[in-house]
Amino acid sequence: MDTARHDRRVLSGIQPTGNLHIGNYLGALLQWVRFQEQYDAFYCVVDLHAITVPHDAGRLRAHTLEVTALYLAAGLDPQRATIFAQSHNPAHAELAWLLTCLTPLGWLYRMTQYKDKAARQQEESVNAGLLGYPVLMAGDILLYQAHYVPVGDDQRQHVELTRDLGQRFNSMFGETFTLPEVVNPETGARVMGLDEPNNKMSKSATGENHAIFLLDPPDLIRRKVMRATTDSGRDIRFSDDPTKAGVNNLLTIYQALTGGERAAVEAEFEGRGYGDLKKAVVAAVTDTLAPLQQRYREISAEPGYVEQVLADGAERAAAISERTLKSVKDQMGFLEPARRWPGVD
Ligand code: TRP
Repeated sequence: MDTARHDRRVLSGIQPTGNLHIGNYLGALLQWVRFQEQYDAFYCVVDLHAITVPHDAGRLRAHTLEVTALYLAAGLDPQRATIFAQSHNPAHAELAWLLTCLTPLGWLYRMTQYKDKAARQQEESVNAGLLGYPVLMAGDILLYQAHYVPVGDDQRQHVELTRDLGQRFNSMFGETFTLPEVVNPETGARVMGLDEPNNKMSKSATGENHAIFLLDPPDLIRRKVMRATTDSGRDIRFSDDPTKAGVNNLLTIYQALTGGERAAVEAEFEGRGYGDLKKAVVAAVTDTLAPLQQRYREISAEPGYVEQVLADGAERAAAISERTLKSVKDQMGFLEPARRWPGVD
C-alpha cells in the first residue's frame, strides 16, 4: 500500500434521508472515488443527521443500507476507504455533546441552512437537533483529524464553523484538533432540479420530475428528462442567466457525464433543438447508470455483505476516533474511569 496517501485525510458524508440522485453522483461520489486513491478516505452515512427533521424509523434503516450499497456501486472500495455509519461509532454523539457546550448559540442561529430549514417547518416541530446539526457535523470531521472535506457550497458555512470550533477548543484546552479545509469539486458538477433549475437537486424535494435517482429505470429517466423545464428560446449554451437555467443544467449534466470541454459540448448542439439535447442527456444518463445499477443488484443480492462493510468500517473508524475523544476528555478535565465496563475497552 502506498503510504504517501495516508498523510492527508479526507472525510465526507451523505444523509440517508432519501434515495441518492445524479446530483449526489456527479457532485460528490465521483470525486470521492478519485480521493480514495489519493488520501486516507473516510466516507460516512450520516444517519444521526437524518433525524434532525421528522423521520420514519423503518425508512431510516432501509435508506442507510441503500445509501451504503450505492456508495459501493458507485465505486467506493472498502479496501481503500473507511465506509461506515455515523451511529455505529458512538464517539460522534459523544463529541457532539462536548462541543455543544463550547458553541455560542449565536453561531448556530446564524447558519443559513438552519434558517432555511426552520422556516420551512412549523415552529413547534423544529427540534433542538436541527440547531445543533453543524456541531454534530463538526464532530464528524474533528474526530478523525480530517484535512479535507469535499462538500458543496451549501455546506461551506458548516465547515467554517468546524474550524472555528476546533480553534476555540485548541486555544481553550490545548492543541488537539486539525483544522479542516473545504475542497470544492473542480470537475464535480452542481446539478439542479429538473423541474426547478434554479434550485439544487434535492433528495427530499416532492416534485415528480425533480430528480433522477440512481436506481430509476430507463423509461422513468426518459420521462423526467423529456419533461425538464427549459425556456422559450433555442440557444444551447452554458449560461448563468436564471431564465436559461434549465438548458444550462442539461448541458452541465451532459458535460459531466461525457467529459468534454464546454466549447465542444456547445459545438455538438449547434443548430439543434432542445429535444435533441434532452435525448442526448437521456442516453448519457442511462449509459452511466446501467452498470451502476447492475453492481447495486449484485451487492444487494449478497446477504449480509453491506452490513459487513459497515461493521468493518465502524471498527476502523472507532480505532481512530477513540484517540481523539480520549485526549479531548482528558484536556476538558473529565475523570478517567478506574476500570472499563466489561466488554468495553
Ligand atoms: N451536512 C452534510 C450535508 O447535508 C452532511 C454531513 C454530515 C457531512 N457530516 C459531515 C459532510 C461531515 C461532510 C463532512 O451535505
